[in-house]
Amino acid sequence: MNIIGTGSALPKKIVTNDELSSFLDTSDEWITSRTGIRSRHVISDEKIEDLGMEAARRAIADAGLEISDIDFFICSNVINEYVTPGISCIIAAGLGMKCPCIDINCACPGFIYAMDIADTYISAGKYSNVLIVCPEEPTRMTSWEDRSTCVLFGDGAGAAVFTKGDNLKATRLSADPAPDKIWQFHKLTPTPYITKEETEVPLQMKGRDVFRFAVSTSARDIRELLAGVNMTIDDVDYFMIHQANMRIIEGIRNALGVEEKRFPTNIADHGNSSSASCPILLDECNRKGLFKKGDILVFSAFGAGLLSAAAILEW
Ligand code: COA
Repeated sequence: MNIIGTGSALPKKIVTNDELSSFLDTSDEWITSRTGIRSRHVISDEKIEDLGMEAARRAIADAGLEISDIDFFICSNVINEYVTPGISCIIAAGLGMKCPCIDINCACPGFIYAMDIADTYISAGKYSNVLIVCPEEPTRMTSWEDRSTCVLFGDGAGAAVFTKGDNLKATRLSADPAPDKIWQFHKLTPTPYITKEETEVPLQMKGRDVFRFAVSTSARDIRELLAGVNMTIDDVDYFMIHQANMRIIEGIRNALGVEEKRFPTNIADHGNSSSASCPILLDECNRKGLFKKGDILVFSAFGAGLLSAAAILEW
């Protein structure tokens, strides 16, 4: 399949590290040196589905299509205010879209998982124009009294439109299930019959384990994916890495031995926006005119699950 449009939308509220330091025992120096994050966009009065709709409209316009041209819609989302229906239906209703839509919850690699699903459907001849939207609000998952998690995240929505073609060269999805590394519990409605204990626990993370997983898995995914299609690191113009932490991105870059200019980043202004991270970065690079036709982009993302994914896409 080919990519034909990108879009993104961000909450207007920007929170700096200094603002966090006013109510948390942290500092701009600690956050910047450990993560590379200086500020993040945080949901205040917006609804995440509205940001998803805005990102979708921009991606569809960038593709030169109408909403009615989209015949399949995939949403990648971890949390939103609705339990049901899926956020894909909420966004589809807002856009006036009538095609089938599904939700996936694959955390940070969700955009690449969605690309793999879209490619499978398009290759099978079932759908022609697939919209992927990743609306994410991870700032609603952490405790804002927990300095080890809340400083890491930011909100936003990224989107892309794909159509028939052979520009997606390969994808690689993988799982190393370990639900104790990144997790959160929410409480379900009690019934007269529930006797087990259920608790509400905000996002928990074994930061160092996740860090090691991210660097080693991403470097492995990228190497194996390229080798599978007889390409090398030198064939790649840009590495579009999940923006979780600048030290993770640098670790991957050093493991692959690639110079900085082929690793675009926006972590400093966004923090980790889960599956929205890759498509927001993609849209920002596209709007800046960074890519030229024929450029090879490699995507790599990792996160809760633990899941990881990578893809090679010719621009
Ligand atoms: N400000 C100041 N100090 C902080 C802090 C903050 N925001 N967060 C944690 N600390 C403290 C800890 O309490 C600890 O203090 P102690 O030594 O007195 O116990 C100290 O800093 C070191 O904590 P540690 O967790 O060992 O730091 P680290 O170097 O591993 O960095 C992360 C923490 C979270 C930045 C790092 O582990 C990381 O980036 N992990 C990957 C997280 C991630 O990206 N997850 C999402 C993947 S999709």
